[in-house]
Amino acid sequence: MTTTNASAIPLNPDRNLAMELVRATEAAAIRAYPFIGKGDKIAADGAAVDAMRGFLATVDFSGTIVIGEGEKDNAPMLFNGEVVGTGRGPACDIAVDPIDGTSLTGAGRQNALSVIAVSDSGTMLDASSVFYMNKLVAGAEGVGVLDIRASIGDNIRALAKAKGKPVGEMSIAVLDRPRHEQLIDEIRSAGAGTRLLLDGDVAGGINAARYESRIDMCVGIGGSPEGIVTACAIKALGGFIQTMMAPKDDAEAAKGIAAGLKMDYVYTADELVSSDNTFFVATGVTDGAMLDGVRRKGPIIRTDSIILRGRSGTIRRVQADYLAERWI
Ligand code: FBP
Repeated sequence: MTTTNASAIPLNPDRNLAMELVRATEAAAIRAYPFIGKGDKIAADGAAVDAMRGFLATVDFSGTIVIGEGEKDNAPMLFNGEVVGTGRGPACDIAVDPIDGTSLTGAGRQNALSVIAVSDSGTMLDASSVFYMNKLVAGAEGVGVLDIRASIGDNIRALAKAKGKPVGEMSIAVLDRPRHEQLIDEIRSAGAGTRLLLDGDVAGGINAARYESRIDMCVGIGGSPEGIVTACAIKALGGFIQTMMAPKDDAEAAKGIAAGLKMDYVYTADELVSSDNTFFVATGVTDGAMLDGVRRKGPIIRTDSIILRGRSGTIRRVQADYLAERWI
């Protein structure tokens, strides 16, 4: 007799907001395309912001930007606190990164993405008062096994055991920054290999959580906004993330505490985003391990995107062809 898990199959499937939001990341990536490798990261970012904003305005939701391009006065668009969408539909928190990897885009290097993450209203941690956080991101095998307070060597050995992999085959992604010199040495001393990222630890974190990826873990200090965005994706992927705020000095720590953040404290995925109703959308700007960058093929501009949904755990890969003459 054939049986189905009736409770697992929604009879009234609800809306997947991310299917609409992907148009905004596609548009941002397409508008950034003419600036790839042209040395002007500000212009690339500006074009992506304008495009994203235009498309967000068409989506039926009321999205409050918790993580945006900065404060109102220095970011004319997509600033923290701005409300986007038509105002009809669900109230949501939204994090936008029109280009994660603006320098990569300007230089024509790999791994730049356009990203939007969404969760239920009031559920996304506003970590904007402290610029950096320390992050430890991995796939589901890391749950109950990894601890950001443990040494990197211990974490690598624990994850290798959980994955049934020799330590020597473990690949650890880290932003290539002077602040990570010791961390990089410790990874290599443990016998694992590094994958040094020029920029873009959102892609690094997601790659660490994807089961088909060659990266096992993404570690180190990167932007706080990128940490929250990564958490939305990790919740949908079922992976592992822990973070700790990394203020650059006492003044920034005090600012963070005044804003309600905890220092010397391990934030779990549920504290970074306290809802399982998360959506994450990314479109490749330049080629990367996860997504192809925008490319022109004769009359067509092709985009490659990933859409993750926390509630269902669905992962979609979406390729879109746009008529170039209407865009560039
Ligand atoms: P932007 O493209 O928004 O500048 O971010 C790129 C990035 O590499 C992030 O992915 C990362 O979290 C952060 O910058 C690291 O900051 P820094 O370059 O100051 O080390």
